[in-house]
Amino acid sequence: MLVLGVESSCDETAAALVEDGHNILSNVVASQIKTHRSFGGVVPELASREHLRNIGYVVRKAFSDTGLSYQNVDGLAVTQGPGLIGSLLVGLSFAKAMAFSLKKPLVPVNHIEGHIYSAFIEHPDIAYPLLALVVSGGHTSLIYSPEPERYEPVARTRDDAAGEALDKLAKFLGLGYPGGPVIDRLSARGDPRRFHFSIPKISDGSLDFSFSGFKTAALRYIERADIRPCRSSSRVSRIVLDLVASYQQAIVDTLVAQTRKAIQRHRPKSILLVGGVACNSLLRQTFPAALAEVVYYPSSILTTDNAAMIAAAGTPKLRRGGDATYDLNAFADLPLATAAARRSY
Ligand code: KG4
Ligand code: ZN
Repeated sequence: MLVLGVESSCDETAAALVEDGHNILSNVVASQIKTHRSFGGVVPELASREHLRNIGYVVRKAFSDTGLSYQNVDGLAVTQGPGLIGSLLVGLSFAKAMAFSLKKPLVPVNHIEGHIYSAFIEHPDIAYPLLALVVSGGHTSLIYSPEPERYEPVARTRDDAAGEALDKLAKFLGLGYPGGPVIDRLSARGDPRRFHFSIPKISDGSLDFSFSGFKTAALRYIERADIRPCRSSSRVSRIVLDLVASYQQAIVDTLVAQTRKAIQRHRPKSILLVGGVACNSLLRQTFPAALAEVVYYPSSILTTDNAAMIAAAGTPKLRRGGDATYDLNAFADLPLATAAARRSY
């Protein structure tokens, strides 16, 4: 089954052609990093406009990279949410129009489910039940999945997402956007024990995350030591290297600690590490060792936002006979459970 995936939930316009849920024929991603860089974060209005500018080109390229024609697809899968509403609507409207004109079925995909399926593209035999740590700029959650397309939320962040926490510190320090990859790179040269960040304890027994306290503590260190924003991420002082390394360490320790508790509670057969922050070298190194489990994570191109994961997640839904639902809408806060509840697609 050949599926066209379309993704536009945040600041990447993406389209991909995927065969049978795991054979990627093309995977095109137009990043908007340049547009948002000077603002230190994604500006929603600019993101929608960039999606509009890019979507036609990106979809055309997904086909021209393969030599296949539009009529060769068996169906389309598009991100329905969660994400920036204006951005989501561009991809969704485009996919609906395309499905209508081609007379092909279209299924909506939850972006988080897409991230979970990103691990299956390269590892189709991952065993259920699984526990997924979805960790990105917009999300940080632990999800238990007893069987395909059934999801039980285990934990979520109560404030910032892990990637957002990294991006914000990088912004304070003038290290550029997105901050995650820069902090990852600089931390290798810093001392992760120099600054102390206490891991918050949530007393109601939940496994939820909280990262905003790290940000406040980092700001206090910055003020106390009178650290000025860096002019360039290639000339960074020792104190900044140590600060970002300690901050990254605290975030990784938190992710590992909560995942370990979730494993004890749910006893999954497989652990998935997905979402943009799953690119982080310290997290990738620490995770399997600290958890003493086999951890599946996708290669970098499939870790950050892409449409191959949306096509992969849409494939089983289309196999059941997706419908060209032209009244589909996008939802900024689409819960993952909704996708499970709507298995009739
Ligand atoms: O999944 P993604 O592309 O978009 C969202 O759904 O949010 O994730 C983007 C996030 C950003 O916060 C970025 O800083 C972070 O992933 N990120 C990283 C690394 N590469 C990307 N964080 C830490 N280390 C990295 N190597
Ligand atoms: Zn994402």
